Amino acid sequence: MTVDTRAPALLPAHPAFATAKVLWVRHWNEHLFSFAIERPASFRFRSGEFVMIGLQGEGDKPLMRAYSVASPSWAEELEFLSIKVQDGPLTSKLQKIVPGDDIYLGKKSTGTLVADALLPGRRLFLLSTGTGLAPFLSVARDPEIYERFEQVIAVHSVRRVSDLAYHDELVGKLAEDPLIGEQAAAQFHYVPTVTREPFHTSGRIGELLENGKLFEGVAGDPVLHPETDRVMLCGSMDMIRDFAALLEGKGFKEGSNNAPGDFVIERAFVG
Ligand SMILES: Cc1cc2nc3c(=O)[nH]c(=O)nc-3n(C[C@H](O)[C@H](O)[C@H](O)COP(=O)(O)OP(=O)(O)OC[C@H]3O[C@@H](n4cnc5c(N)ncnc54)[C@H](O)[C@@H]3O)c2cc1C
Ligand SMILES: NC(=O)c1ccc[n+]([C@@H]2O[C@H](COP(=O)([O-])OP(=O)(O)OC[C@H]3O[C@@H](n4cnc5c(N)ncnc54)[C@H](OP(=O)(O)O)[C@@H]3O)[C@@H](O)[C@H]2O)c1
Repeated sequence: MTVDTRAPALLPAHPAFATAKVLWVRHWNEHLFSFAIERPASFRFRSGEFVMIGLQGEGDKPLMRAYSVASPSWAEELEFLSIKVQDGPLTSKLQKIVPGDDIYLGKKSTGTLVADALLPGRRLFLLSTGTGLAPFLSVARDPEIYERFEQVIAVHSVRRVSDLAYHDELVGKLAEDPLIGEQAAAQFHYVPTVTREPFHTSGRIGELLENGKLFEGVAGDPVLHPETDRVMLCGSMDMIRDFAALLEGKGFKEGSNNAPGDFVIERAFVG
């Protein structure tokens, strides 16, 4: 084990951003890590929203990027799931943070992956690729979602087995979570799929829809119905474009905060 002995990296106050202390960091593999920061008392958000976070860039200018909050709206800390882009302006530095460091946090959150942008339904499908899982960790850990939907199905498509961040917690149906443990045991389903290594489930999300694996253990028909099913999509641009077209072909209407619909989308990164 290596022990980091450097002093915490502190940031100068900035008028547009709050500074928040890093509480913990968990590295999943060479491409992914999670961390949590203190939640400023004034920071409010809805489960599924994103916010700008960052570090000091060149000179005094903060270097900010959009991040989905992975913790639910009631949580005391703000948790994030992050990619490590080798030469990425932010993540080449962010991946080195340790507890006690400061990071900048935007004052306002926003986003469409929220229950308010969906019409009522019975089953909620949370379809993600890569770090697109992040907002769904927030939604699936919010007790309110289990009041609104009978079943919540989180699907995570990744290239390699080690990219399945939070796999053990999700397989365990979030049982350790004191607020939603009981509801999730009865209503939450997790469908991980790995596309470039052997795994018990392989194939892209569209294939799982075709072969029915998306519905294993889920009550109801093994097809998506606009009358009863609602869908949130987050991940690569290509996946969102393809899947949104597929849903529209089945009669699903895209929703927004102003006009709730049958499905909502958000890119997990700008590709
Ligand atoms: C609405 C929104 C929400 C986002 N939420 C998250 C999140 O929760 N977690 C997260 O890690 N990133 C998220 N991102 C991406 C994030 O804003 C940054 O792009 C990322 O942190 C990399 O920053 P960078 O400065 O190191 O590299 P950038 O210059 O921003 O990106 C360099 C390249 O790396 C690739 N890349 C960037 N981010 C990702 C990613 N997440 N997955 C795969 N490839 C990527 C793209 O090809 C991109 O062109 C989100 C982006 C948007 C628009
Ligand atoms: N994760 C890694 O191992 C890794 C390593 C080095 C660099 N990167 C870089 O990070 C970026 C994103 O990588 P990522 O692995 O997070 O995301 P990704 O390439 O989007 O892959 C994540 C998952 O999404 C699936 N997918 C991709 N396009 C799809 C579509 N149109 N419809 C349905 N499913 C689709 C992939 O399946 P397929 O496998 O079938 O494409 C994979 O299961 C890339 O630019 C990559 O170069 C990633």
